[in-house]
Amino acid sequence: MSRLAATIVWVLLHAVNAALVHREWNGSLYSCKCYLGDACWPGTVEWNRLNATVGGNLRLHVPPESVCHDTFDGPLGSLATYNETACQQVSANYANEEWTVEQDATLLWKYFTNHTCPPTIDPGSPCTLGYYGVIILDAHTKHHVKAGIDFARRHDLRLVVRNTGHDFIGRSTGWGSLIIRTQAMQGVKWIKSYKGPGRYRGRAVTLSAGIQGRDILTQAHAQQPPQALMTGECPTVGIVGGLIQGGGHGPWTTLKGMVADSVLSFEVITADGVIRTANERENPDLYWALKGGGPLTFGVVLSATVKTWDDLPAAGATLFINSTTVANEDVFWEGVRIFHKYANHLVDNGLYVYFEIFPQTLRVLPVVAIDKTKSELDAITAPILSELRESDVPFEYASNEYHNFYSLYTDLFEDEVLGGVSLTGGWMFSRKDVRENNDAIVDAFKVAISPREDLLYSGGMIGHLWNAGYNVPVPNSATHPRFRDASDFIISTLPVPANASLEVKADLQDVLTNTIDAALRKAGPHGCTYVNEADPYQPDWQTHFWGDFYPRLKEIKHKWDPHGLFWTISTPGSEDWVLIETETRLCKSQQ
Ligand SMILES: Cc1cc2nc3c(=O)[nH]c(=O)nc-3n(C[C@H](O)[C@H](O)[C@H](O)COP(=O)(O)OP(=O)(O)OC[C@H]3O[C@@H](n4cnc5c(N)ncnc54)[C@H](O)[C@@H]3O)c2cc1C
Ligand SMILES: *[C@@H]1O[C@H](CO)[C@@H](O)[C@H](O)[C@H]1NC(C)=O
Ligand SMILES: *[C@@H]1O[C@H](CO)[C@@H](O)[C@H](O)[C@H]1NC(C)=O
Ligand SMILES: *[C@@H]1O[C@H](CO)[C@@H](O)[C@H](O)[C@H]1NC(C)=O
Ligand SMILES: *[C@@H]1O[C@H](CO)[C@@H](O)[C@H](O)[C@H]1NC(C)=O
Ligand SMILES: *[C@@H]1O[C@H](CO)[C@@H](O)[C@H](O)[C@H]1NC(C)=O
Ligand SMILES: *[C@@H]1O[C@H](CO)[C@@H](O)[C@H](O)[C@H]1NC(C)=O
Repeated sequence: MSRLAATIVWVLLHAVNAALVHREWNGSLYSCKCYLGDACWPGTVEWNRLNATVGGNLRLHVPPESVCHDTFDGPLGSLATYNETACQQVSANYANEEWTVEQDATLLWKYFTNHTCPPTIDPGSPCTLGYYGVIILDAHTKHHVKAGIDFARRHDLRLVVRNTGHDFIGRSTGWGSLIIRTQAMQGVKWIKSYKGPGRYRGRAVTLSAGIQGRDILTQAHAQQPPQALMTGECPTVGIVGGLIQGGGHGPWTTLKGMVADSVLSFEVITADGVIRTANERENPDLYWALKGGGPLTFGVVLSATVKTWDDLPAAGATLFINSTTVANEDVFWEGVRIFHKYANHLVDNGLYVYFEIFPQTLRVLPVVAIDKTKSELDAITAPILSELRESDVPFEYASNEYHNFYSLYTDLFEDEVLGGVSLTGGWMFSRKDVRENNDAIVDAFKVAISPREDLLYSGGMIGHLWNAGYNVPVPNSATHPRFRDASDFIISTLPVPANASLEVKADLQDVLTNTIDAALRKAGPHGCTYVNEADPYQPDWQTHFWGDFYPRLKEIKHKWDPHGLFWTISTPGSEDWVLIETETRLCKSQQ
């Protein structure tokens, strides 16, 4: 198209979205969201009015790490921030997930914040916002959330929702954005017998947007009789936000399916600002799509009502093969090969297993066997251990029995250590892949650990053995159907130096996409991957995240959010927009 024709098309489209801002970048024309400095950016009067509507809960975002720096050079100017005592507190808490969740906008994983204000002992070093949002709306009620949505829509602002900040790939942050923080929304309502649409009449609980895993498991344990429900394995990950909207897997997945499968009904605000119910009877398309169709894609979920059930006895085990016991690398990998060969055996017996592979370390912690005794669990793991012994692979194994899953959970699941700057990818190996291709899968693991000559022993993996289809009748959720024949979902990680240049970042991203994850994908041709724990830049992410469901999800996105109020990378309909000017402005391309 000629430049003139492109300009005319741009003008026409611009007339429809009057507030979008015209930018030219790298020789192309774009219509962008409204950012600070643009004429369309709301004035003080409008911000003050919003602030009054949300009970004074609007704050300029000043990163907590700024107390280690003389000044925070924010978009509204420079602020003196240094405070030695406060800096010591921030540094001491920087790897702590609970502290991090409590902050206004801080993410657990720093790479997609651009890491431009780290804690430091050099107060003279700069502190800027990077890819963090500008203004925080700390929502305490659904009306606060609605006020934020209406304000962002009216002014074409980049809108981000941040619940716990767990997202690995930066979906809970965005340059220049208004951030609605949902962490303060902590309401819980227990239901003895669900009376909503559908056949389910069992126990349930309605969870507000800010509820986190361990907190709700603890509250559930205090019910009579003690209840259990689907959460992630991580104690502080949210439930109603990214976890359910991405699909979600956890320790009960082999027995009960994806976390999203357990949702009976949502309360959600769509882009038009209307508070709606989504369940089998009302807005069933939205109900389906919110269960795994992508975080912050179809609306902002205020609460979800999910199934609960009586907790059950459980047994747990740990298995270590690592450098303290295995000097020889081939012996180590033989141990990994034997362990992984039994992935199908473990899930086919109803188990869930969390493990980590780092250079010379296989750390299986824990193996979860719900509704099984220690001796039943030991019988299931026995063939693995005897094969390790036959192959002279040193290992350490221990198992234990618990009154209920809750006691196992509090005993065996660990808090995470945060603060890392790294890229994350990931791939799911189906039962067929493990059955037919286990040796090739383990060869791909070796690539993930040492992807290139200059990156020997730099990668790592976190694995999860579960099969969301083991015990689950065909579920009505938007999660990839291939998860119903899963065996191992692997997360790959590749650290990035904190001060990496754009060139170094691009190179490492290329290694993740085209070396590490390419090897995993090739070894698992019947697999897929998980929108929350995967490389957003992988080719064909639409099919890898949702398979044949993708076109329907994109239609539902366009129906409920026709103007793209909600946007997160590599989710349905996100192709309509692009981040220009080095991953900052969110724009529609007009060629
Ligand atoms: C240590 C750790 C352990 C994890 N363990 C598991 C696990 O066991 N199983 C698993 O499936 N995943 C796990 N994850 C991944 C997790 O599911 C994702 O990080 C998920 O996005 C977190 O959701 P959140 O709402 O807590 O976090 P956030 O980072 O706050 O939000 C994530 C995404 O959800 C959107 N969002 C948040 N709240 C809402 C809302 N109310 N309405 C609409 N959109 C919303 C945000 O805009 C963002 O796009 C883990 C992650 C970490 C860091
Ligand atoms: C700028 O445009 C050129 C030509 O279309 C393209 O090759 C290049 O990748 C673009 N640069 C960026 C940073 O997108
Ligand atoms: C919002 O109002 C509160 C209470 O009046 C005030 O402390 C806060 O600074 C205001 N926020 C902004 C961004 O003006
Ligand atoms: C510095 O931080 C400490 C700890 O957070 C706080 O108690 C103190 O008031 C702060 N000092 C100033 C001058 O803000
Ligand atoms: C992000 O970091 C890169 C360096 O890796 C830098 O070039 C760029 O200016 C930073 N952008 C922002 C908004 O912080
Ligand atoms: C290595 O294995 C031993 C048990 O043999 C365990 O105590 C230790 O924590 C493991 N080390 C790592 C780094 O996982
Ligand atoms: C990045 O940090 C490393 C040490 O962590 C240092 O050796 C290197 O010089 C730094 N590079 C830049 C460009 O600042």
